[in-house]
Amino acid sequence: MTDLPMQMADQEIWGPVTIYEVGPRDGLQNESALVPTEVKAELVRRLLAAGLPLVEATSFVHPRWVPQLADAEDLMGLLGASLGDASRDLPVLVPNERGLDRALELGCRHVAIFGSATETFAQKNLNRSLDEQFAMFEPVVRRAREAGLDVRAYVSMCFGDPWEGAVPVEQVVSVGRRLFDLGASQLSLGDTIGVATAGHVGAVVDAFVTGGMRRDHLALHFHDTYGQALSNVQAGLRAGITTYDASAGGLGGCPYAKSATGNLATEDLVWFLTGLGIQHGVDLTALVETSTWLAGHLGRPSPSAVVRALAAP
Ligand code: HMG
Ligand code: MG
Repeated sequence: MTDLPMQMADQEIWGPVTIYEVGPRDGLQNESALVPTEVKAELVRRLLAAGLPLVEATSFVHPRWVPQLADAEDLMGLLGASLGDASRDLPVLVPNERGLDRALELGCRHVAIFGSATETFAQKNLNRSLDEQFAMFEPVVRRAREAGLDVRAYVSMCFGDPWEGAVPVEQVVSVGRRLFDLGASQLSLGDTIGVATAGHVGAVVDAFVTGGMRRDHLALHFHDTYGQALSNVQAGLRAGITTYDASAGGLGGCPYAKSATGNLATEDLVWFLTGLGIQHGVDLTALVETSTWLAGHLGRPSPSAVVRALAAP
């Protein structure tokens, strides 16, 4: 990707931005009602058609832990039938070797592991201690790389934890580096419960960069609990980060994180970036139509302010 400097209020920010769409996985994993597999497949297809370059399709976790995504194999089968070989480029989550085996069997080329910056969330989300999570992920990343797969690493609770409160920046950098150094190509820093503010984002990114991390190896993953997600994106742009996770229509949360509300809505991010003149490649009209269509299936309106504004009659 080429980096084009843009000017904003005499500060240099960077684009174009890559939007990493997590709605079908991070959004739908949190729905109380099960969404039909055909609807999920149609959602993924519509998101790709709207120009999103990376659409995380599903998760090969234990179906007892996340029943909403128990149809992972069926979904990938449907997507394979309609998208052909391109379906293998859709990223999928794998927590352990069993998850990786399932992804390898289907020929997936991009997998993501997901660690925790805190002890409590590691226990609740992975049934492992903070240290044990590395032992679980190490063979996953090694085997995935040996098989030629690309690996993304998430780290959750980077800006605050509902059980532990503030999370020291040094702890976030230490866990994030260890996960990335297993062999990932990108590290996504998650504000899982949406408590981050702009200054905190700048401090965390700076700490990673000071510790030797390349900016283009970092992504930011915000939730909009306190309405700060776009302000946090702006802080991320100022700090030189050009990949942002977002969820169509603002769906999501986390089934194992108390008080996690929706992810940053992809539509809100697209509107914001367009206003700054930053390229993103996404057709906002098609995206809003997709989230409106999905809201019809879910039986409630999208929480995204941009969807509500643009979909209004
Ligand atoms: P565990 O119970 O400790 O697993 O769960 P285990 O290794 O002891 O195995 C127990 C049984 O589960 C065995 O079967 C395994 O074969 C089976 P048995 O011998 O009893 O018949 N098993 C599996 N089956 C299918 N697929 C698998 C799998 N693994 C084991 N992959 C485990 C450990 C990690 C599996 C569990 O804790 C888990 O699935 N956790 C995932 C929770 C989750 O998905 N949370 C949401 C995603 S994280 C997130 O949302 C944050 C993020 O979005 C960023 C942000 O917002 O900040 C990424
Ligand atoms: Mg999330």
